[in-house]
Amino acid sequence: MSNQKKHLAVLASGSGTNLQAVIDAIKNNKLKDTEISIVISNKLNAYALERAKKEGINSIFINPSDFKTNLEFDKKIVEVLSNYCIDLIILAGYTKILSIELINTFSNKIINIHPALLPNFGGKGMYGQNVHKAVLESNTKETGCTVHYVTEEVDAGPIIAQRKVPVLSNDTIETLSNRVLQEEHKILPEAIELVLFNQKALQNTYNT
Ligand code: GRF
Repeated sequence: MSNQKKHLAVLASGSGTNLQAVIDAIKNNKLKDTEISIVISNKLNAYALERAKKEGINSIFINPSDFKTNLEFDKKIVEVLSNYCIDLIILAGYTKILSIELINTFSNKIINIHPALLPNFGGKGMYGQNVHKAVLESNTKETGCTVHYVTEEVDAGPIIAQRKVPVLSNDTIETLSNRVLQEEHKILPEAIELVLFNQKALQNTYNT
C-alpha cells in the first residue's frame, strides 16, 4: 500500500505549527494515504526542523548564505526534492520568495498558507505579524486564512480554500494571530486533501 501514498515536501522557516497540523492529520487518518517525505528549512533554528526530527521525518537545513543567488539556493532545493517522488510542496510559514525556476519545476504542485483572506492583505511585505497589524489598522471586522497555489506573483495564485475569522474590538496582534492560526491548522490538511484527491471538486468549486 505504501507505494500508493502521496508524498509531501514541507518548506518551513518558523515554529512549524502548520507542519504539526499536517503531521497530526496524517497520524489521525484525517489525511489518508499521504506521507511527508522531507521537511526543508532555510533557518537553522526553525522549530519546524525539531518537529520533523521528533516524528522521524527526514529534514534538512539549507543555508542561504552558502549560495550566491536565490536561484542557486532554489536549485539546491530542486536537487534535494529530486531524491523523492514529490506530489505536492507545502509552504508552511516559509519566508523565502520562490524563484520562477522552482515554481516551474513543480508547476501546479506548490501551495502556500497565508494568514488573511486573500486577495486582501497579501503581496510583498505581507507576511507574519505584518499581516495582522495591517488587518487591525484597517478596522475590518473580518479576516481569516487562505490556501492557494503558488505562482510567480506573490500571494496571487488560484485560491484553494479560505476560512473566515472575526476581528474583535479588543484584539491585539497576538490574540488575532492565534485565532487565525487555529483555523490555519484546520484548513491546511483539508486543502491538501482537496488538491491531492479531489481535483474535480476543486475545479468545480474554485475555477468558475
Ligand atoms: C502562519 O501564520 C502562516 O500563515 C504564515 O506563517 C505562519 C507560520 O506559522 N505563512 P507556523 O510556523 O506554521 O507556526
